[in-house]
Amino acid sequence: MIDNPQFVEDHNDFEDDDDISVNPTQSQNISEIILESRVERRSFLKGVGTGALLAGASTLTTKAAFASSTPKSSLTFKELPLGYDDTHHVPQGYDSQVLIRWGDKVLSDAPAFNPKKQTAEAQKKQFGYNNDFIGYLPLPHGSKNSDHGLLCINHEYVDRQLMFDGVGKKDIEKQSKELINIEMAAHGHTIVEVKRENGKWAVIEDSEYARRITALETEMELSGPVAGHKRVQTSKDPSGKNVIGTVNNCAGGVTPWGTVLIAEENFNGYFGGNPENTPEGANYKRYGMKGEPRYGWYRFHERFDVEKEPNEANRFGWMVEINPYEPHAKPKKRTALGRFKHEGANALINKDRHVVVYTGDDQRFEYLYKFVSKNKYNYANQEANMDILDEGTLHVAQFKADGDLVWQPLVHGKGPLTAENGFHSQADVLIETRKAADLMGATPMDRPEDVEPNLVTGSVFMMLTNNTKRKSGQEDAANPRADNKHGHIIEMTPPGGRGELADHAADVFKWNIFLLAGNPDNKDDHAKYGEGISKDGWLSDPDNVAFDSKGRVWIATDGAPKSGIADGLWAADAEGPARAQTRHFFAAPLGAELCGPCFTPDDTTLFVAVQHPGDTKESTFKNPSTRWPDFDETLPPRPSVVAITKRNGGAIG
Ligand code: FEO
Ligand code: CA
Ligand code: CA
Repeated sequence: MIDNPQFVEDHNDFEDDDDISVNPTQSQNISEIILESRVERRSFLKGVGTGALLAGASTLTTKAAFASSTPKSSLTFKELPLGYDDTHHVPQGYDSQVLIRWGDKVLSDAPAFNPKKQTAEAQKKQFGYNNDFIGYLPLPHGSKNSDHGLLCINHEYVDRQLMFDGVGKKDIEKQSKELINIEMAAHGHTIVEVKRENGKWAVIEDSEYARRITALETEMELSGPVAGHKRVQTSKDPSGKNVIGTVNNCAGGVTPWGTVLIAEENFNGYFGGNPENTPEGANYKRYGMKGEPRYGWYRFHERFDVEKEPNEANRFGWMVEINPYEPHAKPKKRTALGRFKHEGANALINKDRHVVVYTGDDQRFEYLYKFVSKNKYNYANQEANMDILDEGTLHVAQFKADGDLVWQPLVHGKGPLTAENGFHSQADVLIETRKAADLMGATPMDRPEDVEPNLVTGSVFMMLTNNTKRKSGQEDAANPRADNKHGHIIEMTPPGGRGELADHAADVFKWNIFLLAGNPDNKDDHAKYGEGISKDGWLSDPDNVAFDSKGRVWIATDGAPKSGIADGLWAADAEGPARAQTRHFFAAPLGAELCGPCFTPDDTTLFVAVQHPGDTKESTFKNPSTRWPDFDETLPPRPSVVAITKRNGGAIG
């Protein structure tokens, strides 16, 4: 499965082993398998139905044959050649600026970064490790200012072999308490105030908004239906409402009311102790907990040892809402959005004023979810919306072979979600969301990553990053390739019409496959893109997604190096003749994945997060495969946020 092992390391996104499916019901959809996948069928139905879909899906060969009629993309940037080296690249005519790096000052009293003498006290005040999600929130709140705002950035996990001199990736039993606490302080989230002056972005020092949120000591509130339930009570928190910290914050989303939602993804890897020796054994097993932690935190912090604090792991795996405009507001874990390995979440206000949130469970054979709020958004009183995510209905997706997408509600007492199956309340349904979704017949997917609505077209895009565990015979319409090495992208279309007319609260959508990733020149990949894709336009392992204000799709990848190319960013029209004709825009340095693509409201700046640079095999603090972005012999590689602008101004693309 790995073509180029020299450059591929199982970066600690748990993708190489923890992503082995733990879903016992993964074969349930075999009855739905059809001989001809939906994407192939649709390609014969050019122009029929909900759009051109993969009409015109092409390979390089067909492109050559019809070169004179290559559909013209609305994107005009000069495509970046594919490659893979120790630094990052943007297309000709674009500038890039490293804005903030691991260890840079966030709080005003942060000490200067010294990786050889790092302390937890320093790390708590400095930019954390492995930046992932980026949200840009304009200042003042409610404006569309594209020159001044808050950047909200996740720190997903750590690469201890690149952070600490002489520490190996698996040395969790040898680490001192100080190193453990540095790791915990390097997790979480950062909020910084940023401003553009004379074309250059800068982080404002001593900003009142500057904030670090960590796994080490940030207090959070558990809110919604699970708050206070006995399964989330611990010896330190008998109220079941106050949690310390957040972990594995992968992707996220900015809400229409000016908060950010940050995901807790692979929380299982943070807990030591044998889950089978707790009353939650079966529950924890379904989330991949098996007493083989990736972190040594449990050695010094009892709450991460499930044998000592058996309910603590029920307090992780949630979406966390943060109000960056209120620097002292307590982050809230929104339990109504379900507990699983959330990749991210994106919220919108539906035309009926209910809030709808899309969120995927990133593991092989896991599911896609949608939340619909009980209350309607109150445009007259913003304050009234601040807890709108605490009540509503979570649904799970069933992808039918006929092109329907059916949203099944996960409601206690409905269908099999009853006491006979272990669900005594809605809290039980939410704590064991995966089990509830299994029973409702959800469709096991090829690792749902970012899921985001395109506000221009009204459709919703889901990144499915890969699934090499799907065997021949386990294909279905929505996951049409066995041994899916390169992933694919599904577009989901609510009824009602384009843009604001789309009814995201509806129970049934339509779906289609936007593209099948991989190299079109490699027949075994069975890749499909829009017509006219260039030799540099193909991608692998779609992970994060963003839309510019014209509704064009920007896709960030995590895993392309196994195919010999750097991870990076690709853009395409979402509709029209050049739909799904992806074009290469950004290349990340050796070992890095690309995350957090995020535009300012006017599209003149694109922020990206370069995560785990230098994370290749044999790469260490002393001898890293790249020292990006400083290229200073005294510094290791540093995960960083990069701001991309067009050289003479104007909208990107
Ligand atoms: Fe943290 Fe699913 O990537
Ligand atoms: Ca991701
Ligand atoms: Ca990833």
